[in-house]
Amino acid sequence: MKRIPFKKIGYGLIAILIIIQFIHPTGNIGNAKTENDITHLTAVPDSVMNILETSCYDCHSNHTEYPWYSNIQPIGFYLDKHVNDGKRHLNFSEYNNYKIKRKKHKLEEIAEEVQEHDMPMWEYTLIHSKTKLSEEQMNILINWSKNEAAKITVPDSLKNEKR
Ligand code: HEC
Repeated sequence: MKRIPFKKIGYGLIAILIIIQFIHPTGNIGNAKTENDITHLTAVPDSVMNILETSCYDCHSNHTEYPWYSNIQPIGFYLDKHVNDGKRHLNFSEYNNYKIKRKKHKLEEIAEEVQEHDMPMWEYTLIHSKTKLSEEQMNILINWSKNEAAKITVPDSLKNEKR
């Protein structure tokens, strides 16, 4: 039986690690505040905006504050995967483009996700401890999103509209 060439495999892996350092995902570095961000049709008091910007915007807006280690691959790929995934589900920078039913639904989901401690993602709060929500911040977000969701009435004609 042929011996496994561990040395070659090792060099191969090192070469791959070096090569991927030169690949940079384009990154989420647009403006979080746009003409279609959530503030234009929904009342967002400062107390709420501060929490959203600190704890949610890295994954749910058009602008991520990247940590230095995002330049190290494959960590950068991993971070961008979460950012893209988060934005696909909810992007505060594009919120006003959502159909009315989706607008209401997303606000309801914010209350749910926060209430169940599902957001912000725990891996993230582990590294960025200032993004972890206190009881008080959770209540502020939950009350705000529930209130704003309740203000939106989806007309019958749009109830079956696809996002
Ligand atoms: C580190 C990235 C990250 C942060 C920070 C983050 N999220 Fe998320 N969020 C995601 C990802 C990824 C998903 C989609 C997958 C999932 O549901 O777990 C998601 C999903 C959601 C959803 C569900 C949307 C849907 O329609 O399914 C809501 C609501 C949400 N996040 C709200 C928040 C709020 C509010 C905050 C801040 C308090 C926050 N998120 C912080 C990454 C993040």
